[in-house]
Amino acid sequence: MKGTRRLRRLLAGEQRGFLARDRENWGDHLSRVRAFLGAGLAASGCRPALILGAGAGLEIPWAAAPRGTMGWDADPWSRAWTLLRHHRWAPWCFEDLTGGLADLDDLARRCLRQPWGRGLERPRDRAIRRLAALLASARPWPRHLELRLAELRPGAVLSANVLGQLGVVAQRLLEFHLGPWPWILFPRGEDPVSEALEEWIAHAVRAQLKVLAASAAPLWLIHDRAVIHGSQDVSLGPLREPWEEQLEGGGSAELEDALAGVDVRAELQLAAPGRELLRHERWLWPVAPGQLHLVEAVALGPPTG
Ligand SMILES: C[S@@+](CC[C@H](N)C(=O)[O-])C[C@H]1O[C@@H](n2cnc3c(N)ncnc32)[C@H](O)[C@@H]1O
Repeated sequence: MKGTRRLRRLLAGEQRGFLARDRENWGDHLSRVRAFLGAGLAASGCRPALILGAGAGLEIPWAAAPRGTMGWDADPWSRAWTLLRHHRWAPWCFEDLTGGLADLDDLARRCLRQPWGRGLERPRDRAIRRLAALLASARPWPRHLELRLAELRPGAVLSANVLGQLGVVAQRLLEFHLGPWPWILFPRGEDPVSEALEEWIAHAVRAQLKVLAASAAPLWLIHDRAVIHGSQDVSLGPLREPWEEQLEGGGSAELEDALAGVDVRAELQLAAPGRELLRHERWLWPVAPGQLHLVEAVALGPPTG
């Protein structure tokens, strides 16, 4: 199966899983995310906005979106889901937002095969080492996003809970080829692919932020900052950096960084120092029993000068 088709199938499956979850405890998260993104759509004025990670529209107040607002999501069913939910057939872009997933898929496929002899598998340890080495020099760039931003000149760009998903999707794609994570090499227990993947994800997140920072639009970004496994006793103290220091309680909880160590606010302020910080908030989203997401919302005004 070709990489793009595999990605679309994978995202369609993830979306079905997301929508099938029990949403009993999602009320607070959904009202906050919709209010935040609604303010982002208002900031677009009369110009169309661009909504990245628009998905099935569960979190998007499409009624507030200016005419011509474009959705962006590589799940092939996302536009139709949005039509069903919001009665809106929006212009849509289905490209991979990282610009690098097709290459990642191709790389994994090639590393697992011997260069000679069709279909012959390379020994697993050699395939894993080769993949880790090649992955370390793979640097995704969101070319389609860059082009669309220049073409559309949107009134505002909203990133609707997709930035923290880039790594999850990349990992799922590698799992298709390598089997479930972790990809440990015995007997020494190293996991060189995970290390290289973490760098790939950090690069993909930074590249996306650089491209967004270079646009002329205000930016309204919402994303998972972290996933907290195994404890519901965590609460949030005052907004502090690094984000781990804002968490209180939940001693035994396991923390997973959804952005591979990238600090969105710091990165954007570095890339576009003239933008005014309009909002910076965090809250906890009880996604499932034993799984809390630390959600972060950052809004920056247009570049000045
Ligand atoms: C958590 S969901 C967002 C939910 C959405 N905001 C809503 O209101 O339903 C993340 C979305 O990002 C999309 N996505 C993940 N990785 C992507 C990528 N590399 N390119 C484009 N879309 C991607 C998924 O298909 C999914 O719809």
